Amino acid sequence: MPPVFRVGVIGAYGRMGAEVCRAVEAEDDLELFARVGRGDSLDSLSGADIAVEFSTPETVKENVLQSLQRGLDVVVGATGLTPADLTEIEAVASGSGSKVLVAPNFAVGAVLMMRFAAAAAPHFDVVEIVERHHERKLDAPSGTALRTAALINEARFPAQGSSEDENAARGTDEGGVRIHSLRLPGSVAHQEVVLGGRGQTLTIRHDSIDRSSFMPGVLLAIRRVGDLPDPLTVGLEHLLDLAS
Ligand SMILES: NC(=O)c1ccc[n+]([C@@H]2O[C@H](COP(=O)([O-])OP(=O)(O)OC[C@H]3O[C@@H](n4cnc5c(N)ncnc54)[C@H](OP(=O)(O)O)[C@@H]3O)[C@@H](O)[C@H]2O)c1
Repeated sequence: MPPVFRVGVIGAYGRMGAEVCRAVEAEDDLELFARVGRGDSLDSLSGADIAVEFSTPETVKENVLQSLQRGLDVVVGATGLTPADLTEIEAVASGSGSKVLVAPNFAVGAVLMMRFAAAAAPHFDVVEIVERHHERKLDAPSGTALRTAALINEARFPAQGSSEDENAARGTDEGGVRIHSLRLPGSVAHQEVVLGGRGQTLTIRHDSIDRSSFMPGVLLAIRRVGDLPDPLTVGLEHLLDLAS
């Protein structure tokens, strides 16, 4: 009989949290130990092994820190953590011996889209991102778009640097990568990375058409977060055995 992981879901009554609760309940080696919603004490997580955080950009950092203080490993899906937040979380995780995995996107196809975009970027002059989400998404640009821009800028040397163009219609500028955010009913999570070079464009596109697309990645993260070598890991790709 394999060990059973006891899982507490934070943001359990939201769109993603409810989907995670259903996915955990369907697995024999996982126990849905606690559901935490807005206003609930995180004390109900005491005794769990892993917290899964899908609340809001405003509340995610405090919930992660409180989960670490209770000795849990943490899988973070909510977006909105800044580089300074990540540094703080890493320091607290180091001190507590717990592990944290932050994944801006748990869909395997989206991880591959980011990977392919980073591989293609050094071969093109211009890269722009168009992301589309449902109209109730709180943050813009999306965490996936920001992560994609960061990976593109790591991959191309020298980095292009920010553009001087202040025209708002040209989107926001992340180190020279323009990001355009659409918020539309009927959407879940969609992203195109469009690369332009002399006489050609390359478009890499991913669509999550249903929130079930995120669940295999979330379940993988729950099962593997405790074995990660570092206190803080950013990106599901570290669990996917992708050759570097
Ligand atoms: N990593 C990924 O693959 C991925 C995929 C999709 C979405 N996301 C991100 O996941 C997050 C949640 O998205 P969603 O669409 O599920 O949003 P949502 O439907 O608004 O769910 C968020 C839930 O968190 C609750 N909440 C608010 N404050 C809380 C607190 N302090 N403690 C616990 N729960 C609290 C909200 O309650 P109220 O309704 O009462 O405010 C709501 O039920 C967002 O940051 C989104 O960008 C990530």
